[in-house]
Amino acid sequence: MQAQLHTAVLGKRLIVFNRITSTNDFLKRLARRGAEAGTLVLADQQTAGRGRLGRPWQSSPQVGLWFSFILRPAVALENIGALPLAIAVVVAETLSSLGGQPFAVKWPNDILWQQRKVCGILCEAQISPVLDSHAVDYIVAGIGVNVNQHERDFHSAWGGRAASLAIATGKILDRQKIFLELVRQLDAGLFENLAKNIPLLLWRWRALCPNLGKRVNLRHAQETVAGIFEDIGAGGELILRLADGQCRAFAAGEVSLVK
Ligand code: BTN
Repeated sequence: MQAQLHTAVLGKRLIVFNRITSTNDFLKRLARRGAEAGTLVLADQQTAGRGRLGRPWQSSPQVGLWFSFILRPAVALENIGALPLAIAVVVAETLSSLGGQPFAVKWPNDILWQQRKVCGILCEAQISPVLDSHAVDYIVAGIGVNVNQHERDFHSAWGGRAASLAIATGKILDRQKIFLELVRQLDAGLFENLAKNIPLLLWRWRALCPNLGKRVNLRHAQETVAGIFEDIGAGGELILRLADGQCRAFAAGEVSLVK
């Protein structure tokens, strides 16, 4: 598979598992020991796959793509929050071009088909311990793509809010082909001149986000704040216009559309 990648950085070291607890957890251990940017881990199954906000991530064998990679970006700390959005836009655009279906993004970094989640991204950053450097040591970016699940494969707790590429396209798809194309596009989009490219990636993200300009609720740290989803900031933060006209920025949270 590695020979078919033809990438500059991503996947130069590729580790493939049949089964692992979590590709993010495995890769964080490697990153702490100095593994290079672009190191890539793919698993057919995860027994302890993790999602954002401490949630479990269903990672059954033979139906999905569960992979993680290391970034060591030269990006200012205040802009690090833009990275998950940058990854989401590359993944969404790639899936749209492969599947012939429009995939949308949901803040901060979900990928949706007809408002159902087909892909989630979990970025975990380690800030450099070197005093005053304010630099990022590494980011482990984990991507989970539901590829060939049928409707019955999703846990009832999802309540119809999850989907797969197979459900979206009506076809069983070649996971390896999708993986290779995602890795090529992520390599091209994220590993060269990232700091310079982030503003453009954020514009592409805006173009894929149907919730922009809409009335939303943002759940964050035990509170729910209502407002208009005004924009995203240079660091990927959600900018909400409140009822009094003031804007407030959020770095984390869960957005839902007010119907
Ligand atoms: C989310 O939407 O909550 C993020 C889901 C991220 C899942 C991927 S699968 C590969 C990597 N390993 C993990 O344990 N999680 C991420």
